[in-house]
Amino acid sequence: QTLTIKSVLIVDGVGPSCAKILESHGLSVTSIPKISKEQLLKEIPNYNALVVRSATTVTPDVIEAGKNLTVIARAGAGVDNIDVAAATKKNIMVINAPGANAMSACELTCGLMFALARNVVPAATSLRAGRWDRALYTGTEICGKTLAILGLGRVGTAVASRMIACGMKVLVYDPFVSAQQCEALNTKKVELDEVWPEADYITLHTPLIESTRNFINKNTLSLCKKGVKFINVGRGGLIKEEDFLDALNDGTVGGAALDVFEEEPPKNPLTLQIIQHPAVIATPHLGASTKEAQVRVGQEIAEQLVNLIKPKTYNTP
Ligand code: MLT
Repeated sequence: QTLTIKSVLIVDGVGPSCAKILESHGLSVTSIPKISKEQLLKEIPNYNALVVRSATTVTPDVIEAGKNLTVIARAGAGVDNIDVAAATKKNIMVINAPGANAMSACELTCGLMFALARNVVPAATSLRAGRWDRALYTGTEICGKTLAILGLGRVGTAVASRMIACGMKVLVYDPFVSAQQCEALNTKKVELDEVWPEADYITLHTPLIESTRNFINKNTLSLCKKGVKFINVGRGGLIKEEDFLDALNDGTVGGAALDVFEEEPPKNPLTLQIIQHPAVIATPHLGASTKEAQVRVGQEIAEQLVNLIKPKTYNTP
């Protein structure tokens, strides 16, 4: 089956490699890096394909307005900002580029883990302000600590091998991988009741779906080791922010590095309190934001779109 894709709308600042490849195959491309909902609703009827990153939410009204849409492409891994059910109902294909930015998300996760362990951000901020507080910022070693990885997909797997090399004991919670797969990676498959009391660090790499929304909440936090540190380069909705702020305030959570938030950009005063908390390092959804990842993501999405318009030939026996 081939699809009609003549015109493509690219939003959210997807790497220029995407438009370049599409144009070299004769497609007409419009790039609007920052688009409002109103503008998107007005523009969308003119296009066959829409390419988004995480800023644009593709809601049923956008899909309804996209009278000529045949494909929605997510220039990234998670398709949680696209209403896939509404698209499917309209026979609109949804594609993504799941592996293209995994290394970048992994590297940010590992870097943030070290930054938490060694108080890099508060120490640098303090020195910039003219103080020399060596004792105040004594850290802890990563080596010998226990890391729990929730979700052993591409990012989780890459984090596991790197942090094992740094001397961490790695526990994995992922209902879709076997104990043997975990063993082959020198990790241990565990159930959630083993994660909470054992882990010194917990990193989140599950997709955001109904069963994982608010995964980290009052109840799960109450089972954690006092002072546990969290890294979230996955999705904001995995953490119930209200409960997380309480856990930061009472010391249940000793540190957190958060790259993603329930609402982005965050406006909710509660989220802003988390971002400003002294035990938190907050970054503006930078997991996939590297030069290399954006080139790969743009290429992968463009190649998939080009393949969809190529007539297929099948070998008949
Ligand atoms: C992803 O799902 O791969 C990332 O959130 C991509 C992005 O930063 O847009």
